Amino acid sequence: MASPLTEGEVVRVRASGKVNLVLRSGPRRPDGYHTLATVFQAVSVYDELDARWAGPGQFSVAVQGEQADLVPTDDTNLALRAAKLLARRFGSEELGCALTIRKAIPVTGGMAGGSADAAAALLACSVLWDLDTAPDDLVTLGTRLGADVPFCLTGGTALGSDRGDRLAPVLSRGTYHWVLAFSEGELSTPAVFGRFDELRRDDAAALEVPAGLLNALIAGDPASLGACLVNDLEPAALSLRPGLQQVLAAGRDLGALGGIVSGSGPTVAFLVGDESAAIDLSVGLASHGICRSVKRVYGPVPGVRLIS
Ligand code: C5P
Repeated sequence: MASPLTEGEVVRVRASGKVNLVLRSGPRRPDGYHTLATVFQAVSVYDELDARWAGPGQFSVAVQGEQADLVPTDDTNLALRAAKLLARRFGSEELGCALTIRKAIPVTGGMAGGSADAAAALLACSVLWDLDTAPDDLVTLGTRLGADVPFCLTGGTALGSDRGDRLAPVLSRGTYHWVLAFSEGELSTPAVFGRFDELRRDDAAALEVPAGLLNALIAGDPASLGACLVNDLEPAALSLRPGLQQVLAAGRDLGALGGIVSGSGPTVAFLVGDESAAIDLSVGLASHGICRSVKRVYGPVPGVRLIS
């Protein structure tokens, strides 16, 4: 298969992380997944992925940056799986690639870092190999790789239903400022869903996104949005990592408009009114010494994008 890129050239893609403004979950289904009603917002913490040509059937991945040692580079790596799936479905056996990922999204941190890398690999390899794929084709493949991959491809603000992979756009005005508190160590998403199953009551509320949250997004009103943040997985994450309670309390005491465990955690996301409030909160949180690091981000931002 011919490529417009000469060997040695690099396709570079940037992929954003996400926070769930709302995450409501039903009970475990027979397929092991949970039906969700969630609102995703893509935020400005980015992994970068480079894709280069490699010999036929040769696929490799190297990982650099924060927490790189926590990312597998064998066949379980989600970006590698994405590249192989794309080659199988749309390419030929002549294809191969060498991927390099620079991590900034926390690893197993509840911000869809692995899914972002898979989305990045789908876009980068489709360009590297000059494949005839439409954006919808990548979303369809993404769904097979993980429930968050479709959102990582599209970014912005979106309502996710079914496993979180059926997306509908959500109207959102303005830019929201967040302070992310990164924790030491990881929290396994299946383990958090497992604890959620143990804690869940049969009379749990219906899977509804609060109307107040959608109205706050339409109005561009961070104070109202902060009051509506909700995550059904938060009690499960807190029961597995009780120390996060202290992080949540500290952020609220320091004036955050709202604080929430991001996805399955352990990252905690605090919403603030503007950039100067974000600076104040991040300095305050860092001085408490209760998180690995803090980072100021904003959203919504796009999903995967070609940089070069
Ligand atoms: O789809 P993904 O591989 O990212 O999901 C990781 C795990 O998270 C699943 O194996 C499942 O245990 C849990 N999960 C779930 N329900 C969802 C999404 C994820 O139970 N809607």
